[in-house]
Amino acid sequence: MGSPPNSGPAARHEPLESLKLEPLMTRDYESRPDLVFERLRNTHGPVAPVDLLGVPVWLVLGYEEALEVLRNDQDWPKGLENWRARDEGRIPPDWPLAPSLDVNHVLIQGGPEYPALRGAWDAALRPFQDPRQPQARRLRAQITRDADELITLLSQGGRSGWADLSAQFARPLPLMVASHLLGFPGSQHDDALMDMWRVLDAGPDAGPALDRLLAALAELGAWKMRQPGDDFPSYLLAAHPGLGVEELSRELMMLLGMTSDHVGILISNTVVEVIGGNASARASLSAGMMRETMNRVVMQKPPLVNFVPRFPVADTRLGDYTIAAGDPVWVSVGAAHADPAFSDKVCPASTISTRAHLAWGAGPRQCPARELATTTAGIGVSRLLERLSGLELSLPPDQLPWRSSPFMRGLRSLPVRYTLADNPAPRTPDTPALPAIPPPPGHPPTVEGPERPRSSLWRYLAGLVRGR
Ligand code: HEM
Repeated sequence: MGSPPNSGPAARHEPLESLKLEPLMTRDYESRPDLVFERLRNTHGPVAPVDLLGVPVWLVLGYEEALEVLRNDQDWPKGLENWRARDEGRIPPDWPLAPSLDVNHVLIQGGPEYPALRGAWDAALRPFQDPRQPQARRLRAQITRDADELITLLSQGGRSGWADLSAQFARPLPLMVASHLLGFPGSQHDDALMDMWRVLDAGPDAGPALDRLLAALAELGAWKMRQPGDDFPSYLLAAHPGLGVEELSRELMMLLGMTSDHVGILISNTVVEVIGGNASARASLSAGMMRETMNRVVMQKPPLVNFVPRFPVADTRLGDYTIAAGDPVWVSVGAAHADPAFSDKVCPASTISTRAHLAWGAGPRQCPARELATTTAGIGVSRLLERLSGLELSLPPDQLPWRSSPFMRGLRSLPVRYTLADNPAPRTPDTPALPAIPPPPGHPPTVEGPERPRSSLWRYLAGLVRGR
């Protein structure tokens, strides 16, 4: 596709800091990021210098250039220790992105310790992603039950009514899935999930919520070291016995954040695609092609819009510039998908979408949890469509409110009008109610069904129904 990334006229070779930098995170970016990308592409070509909340970075806008960086982890490694400006003390200590990048978990990390950590992630996720494994079957059954419970709760106001499917379904469902993966004992999980919600919302109570959450995850990690179970932390420890409690809790935080935010965005975006009037989306679903729909959704609206930075090991030509060794390079998948070198090859009306998109990354560092994420979102959206016969957006698709950060872009809310189906399809045969994993010794069993004691997350969701 297109010409090789490093051909053409001589590259501009000026220090990043000396270039005129356009701020990236503007009101325009929030409402129409595609226009911002187009303007940058017209001015600079496939790689643009931008100001990211006060720090100069390179933004990769070209599809070929993005692939070049993502596929070559040797020459474009991650790892903040490779960032020259940071090494020289030129990053303001109060830079808003510092707290999320300074957490040295698997997504951010480079260096010699990374391969073992990534291998452990792959091993720990495998039982939940391989459909033949009992853990994967049990998780599917649990996701179906959780989805059904959330639908029952949101429709308590009557057979038809209004709901915010983001707050009442798309966000809590993946949080509940993360909680099963983490294997929280007892009911401690609901409070941790509520705290994750507060952290993601970045409101005034986000700071104390993060402290409580990290403490809860450290406690959970220490517990799993003593009492391994059938869960992600125990499998991660088994695959990487050298992990300490602090390192383990960083990885658990990463799992909780990725699952809750990005899978929630995927669910909301898929619902909009299906009910928002795209006839080809409905056609693909009637053909039983939920996965194909989600593939097209992540291609058109990638939940992770910009990837965490890489740093070239040597001065390297990329696009029309020479990037100095140690400069921060952010691949923008949102921009790469809008690059005519990619978008001109994709037919928007087709029910079959391209597999060449970058929404899950590319090369050695691509997402290890793609199956888990699409399974969760697929079950969630399918149960919604099966149990709600009428489902309409309360706003035109182009007026839905979006929220953006330098990393993600998703819906702030998803207002819909629903009608309950008269005879909803039963749970699919491959998701029967399997026996629950027994609780660890010394912890009370989790009670299933309507009598299950509920804590903060459930009370919050019930409050949303009452408050309508
Ligand atoms: C719709 C949901 C998701 C999307 C769109 C997504 C997308 C991505 C992308 C694009 C990358 C590569 C980033 C880069 O190259 O810098 C990535 C990496 C990663 N993702 Fe996901 N992800 C999703 C869900 C998840 C979930 C649920 C988990 C955990 C259970 C997860 C775990 C990871 C990890 C550990 C990495 C780092 C891999 C590495 O650097 O070796 N992701 N994800």
